[in-house]
Order: sequence, then C-alpha cells, then structure tokens
Amino acid sequence: MDSSTEWQRKDWILVHGVPMIAAFSKNWERIDAFQARDDDIIIATYPKSGTTWISEIVDVILADGDTEKSKRDVIYNKVPMLEFCVPGIVPPGSQQLESVPSPRMIKTHLTISLLPKSFWEKNCKIIYMARNPKDVAVSFYHFDKMNKLHPDPGPWEQYTEKFLQGAVGYGPWGPHVRDWWNLRNERNLLYLFYEDILEDPKCEIQKVMRFLGKDLSEEVLEKIVQHTSFQSMKQNPMTNYTMLPSSMMDHSVSPFMRKGICGDWKNHFTEAQSRRFDEYYKKEVSGTDLSFRF
Ligand code: PPS
Repeated sequence: MDSSTEWQRKDWILVHGVPMIAAFSKNWERIDAFQARDDDIIIATYPKSGTTWISEIVDVILADGDTEKSKRDVIYNKVPMLEFCVPGIVPPGSQQLESVPSPRMIKTHLTISLLPKSFWEKNCKIIYMARNPKDVAVSFYHFDKMNKLHPDPGPWEQYTEKFLQGAVGYGPWGPHVRDWWNLRNERNLLYLFYEDILEDPKCEIQKVMRFLGKDLSEEVLEKIVQHTSFQSMKQNPMTNYTMLPSSMMDHSVSPFMRKGICGDWKNHFTEAQSRRFDEYYKKEVSGTDLSFRF
C-alpha cells in the first residue's frame, strides 16, 4: 500500500440499510456474487470484538502450533477481510481471496443479512466472536480516531449516543450479536466470547482446536497461548497493524493493540452513560440466553 496516499475521511454509506465504510461500499455486487468454498473458515465479528486475536489463534492452530510459520505474513493477508475495498490502492478482499489456497480463513464484520449466500449454501465453518458493548464502544471510538477510512467519531459523549442508535460502522451491536447467536445451533458455528478467552485462553483455544478438527499436544497448546497473548501480538509486526501506512492508521493517535482488557469502559463512562448502556444491553439480550461479562 502506498504510504504517500492522503486519506480523506468519509461518512458511513448505507449498504442495504447497514452503515458501511464508504470505500468498502463500492461495487457491492462483488460481495453478493462471492463464491465460497466448502472448506472456507469464516471469522465473523462485530467490529472491535477480538477479530485479530481469534484470527491469529485460528492461523496458528491450522499451522499445528508452528509460530514461525504463522509469522510468514501480516494478519490481513493471512486472513483477508471479505468486504475490504479501497479502490485504486489494493485489490479488494474478495478478489485477493480468489488466489488464496484452501482452506481459506476469511474475516468479516458483515451482518447475517449481508453475508454472501454462497457461505450458507456450502455450510462453511464459522467462528463468531462477541464482546461486551461497553468495551466495544470504547475500542471502536479509539479506532475511529486512528483509522482514516472511518468518519471522525466526534466527542465521546456524542459517540456513545451514536453507538446506542447503531449509527456506527456495521450498524447496531445488539442485532449483530443476537442474530449470529440465534444461528449457532442451526449452522456449523462456534460462538465465542472475548471475555472468556481472556479469562481462560487454554480452555477456549481447545474449543477452537476441536471445532477445526485438530488434536494438538498440551505443549503446543501452551505455545499457542503465549504466541497469542496481548503482549506478544502487540509486539508482533505481523499482527499489530503497524505495517500499514500511518497515513491510514495512525498508531500515535491510538495504537491498534490498545489495551486488550475487559472493563476499560470504567475509565471512559460516566455513571449516566453506564446506566444508558445497561438499559440498552438489557433490552438487546432480553428473550435470549445471551449473557456478557463486563
Ligand atoms: S477490528 O478492527 O474490528 O478487526 O478489531 P478487532 O481485532 O476485532 O478488535 C481489536 C481489539 O481487540 C484487542 N486485542 C486483544 N485483546 C486481548 N488479547 C489479544 N491477543 C488481542 N489482540 C487484539 C485490541 O487491543 C482491541 O481492543 P482494545 O480494547 O481497543 O484494546
């Protein structure tokens, strides 16, 4: 990617009613027409829910714990983002994926309604990872500030309201986590929580291994836990997004690998904001057995 490009921030653009990064919204036919393969592994998330983390975990599991192999390329080439598109700069993710050997790992933040039909027809394996909305909002706010493909988030007070209204990239958090949750028993889908991996990475990584049909030794498992810890991934140029031009992602504004904890929202929310989010959360998960930890 050319480091001299000057990025102009643009507002979200609605794609079938879902707010999308303006650049990604171009030529949407490429997403509708995307052809899945039987052995594709989809990594689906609402933004800022630990996509990069679970992507690296999947990659190193598929490499049987060979952490050197997993350093072969940057995360966004190893696990291309389906909807990524910056016209005239790099080929769109959908095109990049055509030349990726199987089994492909595919990152997406798309809602169920926007996901290409072909993934459902082929019944591809899907790993969905969710995170509590307060920490997501904080992480998203900092990411909007440092990523010039996104509109400026504005002041935090206004941002929290935009988040609650779903006026942020990929739309509202509630329907996203809920719709994917409702599919977990019907589809080939493993649903994970960011907070669970933080608390017990070994146990959660074992779930991923089993889902991918891998049986790796205790020693390899330990190695994967170390390799995918926040500190390792923050220092690893293949996972920390510092290989992208700073004109696009400015890590001096906020690093991509920012804090990697549960509960940073307590450093940002006023009591009133916290109450608003609690009400929102209760409404969004009511009638489901979804439960998040804060
Ligand atoms: S994106 O841009 O939507 O794909 O971002 P995503 O990767 O989903 O989320 C980024 C947040 O995940 C944190 N992160 C981690 N936390 C714990 N351990 C590991 N290994 C890890 N890797 C990434 C990252 O720091 C972002 O969260 P915040 O709260 O901003 O720190």
